[in-house]
Amino acid sequence: MFEAVPVDASDPLRFHAELDRQLRALIAGERDRIANAANASALIFQLVPGLNWAGFYFLHTERELVVGPFQGKPACVRIAVGKGVCGAAAQRRQSIVVEDVHAFPGHIACDAASRSELVVPLIREGGTEPGTVLGVLDLDSPLPGRFSEADRIGFERLAATYVAGSDW
Ligand code: SME
Repeated sequence: MFEAVPVDASDPLRFHAELDRQLRALIAGERDRIANAANASALIFQLVPGLNWAGFYFLHTERELVVGPFQGKPACVRIAVGKGVCGAAAQRRQSIVVEDVHAFPGHIACDAASRSELVVPLIREGGTEPGTVLGVLDLDSPLPGRFSEADRIGFERLAATYVAGSDW
């Protein structure tokens, strides 16, 4: 049985290194992308303080994201590429940190409690089409300005660990 170990969040670099270590241990030996996304969202939600939603949207067609495994309140199912924070991150192939969701034009409110957001694209690394977007990892917080630059870098690495550890 895997048991998540609580992590001290006061040092962001150590926090993210430890989160990544636990994700690697959690998904080791399993390559199913849905199973790994389910466990990754549960691990993130359990260990990362100050979140009200953590989960995945997968690129269903070139133009549409569809919700995948997550923790938090029920969410919008389909998001057009280019729409909201998730759709914008998928389109730009770049992470987006939103300090205040009320100030982000086109933000899609799935949970009215959300005040800040970090969305990281899932990018294929090797294989036949490296660099293609597979989906996004979306983190929402009820706290304004919850996500730092260290969080962006840390969750980008976590997303890369998830992508590399799963079959696509
Ligand atoms: N806020 C997101 C939508 C997804 S939910 O928050 C879970 C967005 O604007 O893309």
